[in-house]
Amino acid sequence: MKSTLTKTVLAITIIATLIACGEEKKKRALNFPKTDLAAENLIPKPLKMIPTHEGFALDQFTAIYTSENASDFEEVGKFLAKKIKEQTALDVQVNVPEIPGREGIIYINQSDSLELNASEAYQLYVAADSIILNSNTAEGAFRGVQTLRQLIPETSNDTLAEYPVWTVPTGKVMDNPTFEYRGSMLDVARHFFSVEDVKKYIDLLAYYKYNVLHLHLSDDQGWRIEIKSWPKLTEVGGSTEVGGEAGGFFTQEDYTEIVDYAAKHFMTVVPEIDMPGHTNAASVSYPILNGNGKTPKLYEGTHVGFSTFDTRKDTVYTFIDDVVREISAITPGPYFHIGGDESHVTKKNDYIYFVERVEKIVQKHGKRMIGWDEIAQADLDSTSIAQFWSSKENADKAAKKGMKVIMSPAKKTYLDMQYDTLSKHGLHWAAYIPVDSAYVWNPEEYEGVPLKNILGIEAPLWSETISDIGELEYLAFPRAIGHAELGWTTQENRDWENFKVRLANQAPFLDRMDVKYYPSPLIDWKKSKYTYEEIKKD
Ligand code: ACM
Repeated sequence: MKSTLTKTVLAITIIATLIACGEEKKKRALNFPKTDLAAENLIPKPLKMIPTHEGFALDQFTAIYTSENASDFEEVGKFLAKKIKEQTALDVQVNVPEIPGREGIIYINQSDSLELNASEAYQLYVAADSIILNSNTAEGAFRGVQTLRQLIPETSNDTLAEYPVWTVPTGKVMDNPTFEYRGSMLDVARHFFSVEDVKKYIDLLAYYKYNVLHLHLSDDQGWRIEIKSWPKLTEVGGSTEVGGEAGGFFTQEDYTEIVDYAAKHFMTVVPEIDMPGHTNAASVSYPILNGNGKTPKLYEGTHVGFSTFDTRKDTVYTFIDDVVREISAITPGPYFHIGGDESHVTKKNDYIYFVERVEKIVQKHGKRMIGWDEIAQADLDSTSIAQFWSSKENADKAAKKGMKVIMSPAKKTYLDMQYDTLSKHGLHWAAYIPVDSAYVWNPEEYEGVPLKNILGIEAPLWSETISDIGELEYLAFPRAIGHAELGWTTQENRDWENFKVRLANQAPFLDRMDVKYYPSPLIDWKKSKYTYEEIKKD
């Protein structure tokens, strides 16, 4: 109690000092043109916003301060400074000794206020002379930092001062997500993507407050993660990909680099080893695993459903134990995804036996099992999680067992579905998914899955038709931005007409990040580098 009180008094003292120093600036800031926080770059839309129609001048005098003794808050401050520098070239200092008369403070404050008693909640107060970001956790502060980044205009008001000034609209934002799990999946198995590509995807997802990256690390066409006790998985199984290109894999060091990078963005990595089907690459590497009665050969096509492990062989479970153990040891997050989809050549009772046995292995290694919705046919622990992609019947079964469900209906969230018949990449077996269709639905009530069972939403990006980051970006953006809002923003606060305007305003950011997004003709893009007409011609 005493320490909380001391901390609060200290915080108030610091803030009062900072505000006093900003008096001069306030006068100047008030002369800037009025901007409006509600007039909107913000995606996902926050819970509450109260614009106050002034401007905070972000300029060379701005400095960032973070709560002392609050773990990771300084890191969040440094992240903000780095992003401000990338955007504006301003060198905003973090926690430097206070200079009397310093103007324009951004204070990232650890607060024990009951209102902020949720891990990702934050309050952002932008005034003409200071910005205060309050949160209970560094994670909440990090989400608030994304809101602040979205409020900084892409261009400075060079004409209003002798030095460049970025005018941040003033007001209050009070925010907290609807769902605790907001993910995207990247299939690095059908085509391999490099560590750098994955990091760029993390950068973009984090900006829209995603907190999960699910990596689909194995499939018929490739095994993408080093397993030290079974080295042929990557030597043999990692050598191919769809279309005959060279494949590739992450060493455990590469994977750790991704996990660490994700953690710095307060994102959890969910590793997936897809089984007992989708296992051709594993079975080519170690034929003893194979259960489909044929001699496995490397595969570079796009059919599904032809492979299976031999679910009645103990060696298979020894193998799985090693794989789950090695991956779990370098995965700090709580989840391990076992796939479980489209095991068309596994007999139903063998499939059920397999999933139940693998669940125990996952639990033994300290993880919570996730699997595609088919796993709900097995008798599973209520702590396991079903990912609804196709079957309402399976989603209902999972909910009846008290399991949580991740909402990834293919017709709405599959990022590899084409936008329309003219789309350059993608498939359309589930649906064509134009940008409005991806956004205009409610995960809260889709197909009657009870809200209390819904852990969150995930947008999977399968990679049969894409092989480089530009193609990845074409399918993921802008639809993944809409899915970010579905996971964070309350149903009452979502509206397609309003979202369309905010989405159009993302173009300058996406262009600056060199994201080759699909410039959907449904959106009146604010000065886009990529025109729909050009994309259509390619
Ligand atoms: C899936 O799309 N097979 C999960």
